[in-house]
Amino acid sequence: MDKFKIKGKKPLEGRVKVSGAKNAAVAAIPAGLLADDEVIIENLPMINDVFVYGDILKYMGAEVLFNNGVMKIKPNIHTIHHLPYELVKKIRASYYLLGVLLAKYGDAEIALPGGCNIGTRPIDQHIKGFQALGAKIEIDQGMIRVRAKELIGAPIYLDVVSVGATINIMLAASKAKGLTVIENAAKEPHIVDMANFINAMGGNVKGAGTDVIKIRGVEKLHGCTHTVIPDQVEAGTFMIATAATGGDVIIENVIPKHLDPITAKLIEAGVIVEENGDLIRVISEPPLNAVNIKTLPYPGFPTDLQQPITALLTTAKGTSIITETIWESRFKHVDELKRMGADINVEGRTAIIQGVEELSGAPVKATDLRAGAALITAGLIAQGETEISCIHYIDRGYEQIDKKLKGLGANIERISEADQKQKEGKTRGEIANWTKQEYVCLEAEAPGTPYS
Ligand code: EPU
Repeated sequence: MDKFKIKGKKPLEGRVKVSGAKNAAVAAIPAGLLADDEVIIENLPMINDVFVYGDILKYMGAEVLFNNGVMKIKPNIHTIHHLPYELVKKIRASYYLLGVLLAKYGDAEIALPGGCNIGTRPIDQHIKGFQALGAKIEIDQGMIRVRAKELIGAPIYLDVVSVGATINIMLAASKAKGLTVIENAAKEPHIVDMANFINAMGGNVKGAGTDVIKIRGVEKLHGCTHTVIPDQVEAGTFMIATAATGGDVIIENVIPKHLDPITAKLIEAGVIVEENGDLIRVISEPPLNAVNIKTLPYPGFPTDLQQPITALLTTAKGTSIITETIWESRFKHVDELKRMGADINVEGRTAIIQGVEELSGAPVKATDLRAGAALITAGLIAQGETEISCIHYIDRGYEQIDKKLKGLGANIERISEADQKQKEGKTRGEIANWTKQEYVCLEAEAPGTPYS
């Protein structure tokens, strides 16, 4: 598998453009099937999760064209409603197909998503929502079947604030009879993005961005063009990496409001953050100050940036305390950071970080997407060379992060293992065999869906 090799200690400088939001994209692509005619989704990030979702839609019978961030989806009446584990395990957000197929065809059977490297990932709140709308649920041999002759709008109170359940219920309710009211709904930017998309297809969703969302079902949804919002987490990752390296970077194509919780913490740490339209400039002169962070649903500090900011805090002055309230196992990056010289103690859901003078480069392994982003940040500030393996996790969610960082002056190289083996004089057959084995080994290490 490919690796990143980073030589640290170079402040990031220049301008970088943020791509479309991964978590909005993986909801918008299946939602495109709700329309009766062609839907065009723009500003999609060119990342593996998006490629995989496009392939799933094709398997289901839709016509899908994807080029340069623009996906054209033509739904087909002969859509396949049964999606086996082999197909959906590749992307966790395949659970959105439950809401979509239920709304459009009244029937969906999909392999249940498993746990993953950041914690258990139940979907009980999705199920509760579908049941409230009148659907029957059967779970058998790892598959979940959701069926309804007719969906009828209903009040639904979510027991936990869940992004996935909020979106899935919005999707299912978009064509239900009457009014659905979701209380204690998630407020993340991609919830608002989904409401805008459904409305552009002719739906009727109100209140997205607050904790009460009202969806009045409509009979038909039509084609439209929808532009996905910029990626809040990618933008935050560049803000953190710039701050950590003592850089000066202008980040383009952002919605600064979405980044308020990150901006606030960076300012508290001693970083200068300036906003101007859809640009954010980050200027930093380390050492930074220690800060305490508690991850929370939006507009709180996002769990998806907890790992990258942990890397930044490893060299901040003093003691930082991080409390992870969303995912119970989202501290797998800590052991890798410790191998680079970080002083971190994890107790339950809390990480106590004692700032050290300097990190030193080491071979490390990404265990999930944002752990990968944390290790890149650590590699950028460390003395010497860091080699990050398992970067397929990073490629799932960041578009060409190595190229973007190189554009900011980082010393980062993608090392293709196939090229390496070829240099070592291996034959094509040996390389193919070796690559296959490497995949098997990784799957065995990280069972279930290691995805976001
Ligand atoms: N939860 C339940 N029951 C449910 C659903 C969720 O108990 O039915 C719990 C979860 O166990 C968790 C909390 O509620 O403790 C929040 O989970 P949520 O449903 O909001 O997460 P998600 O929709 O599965 C999305 C993102 C994640 C991000 C979380 C939280 C996508 C595809 N994924 O996951 O993104 O961490 O929201 O903001 O939108 C990432 O991008 O790296 C990533 C992991």
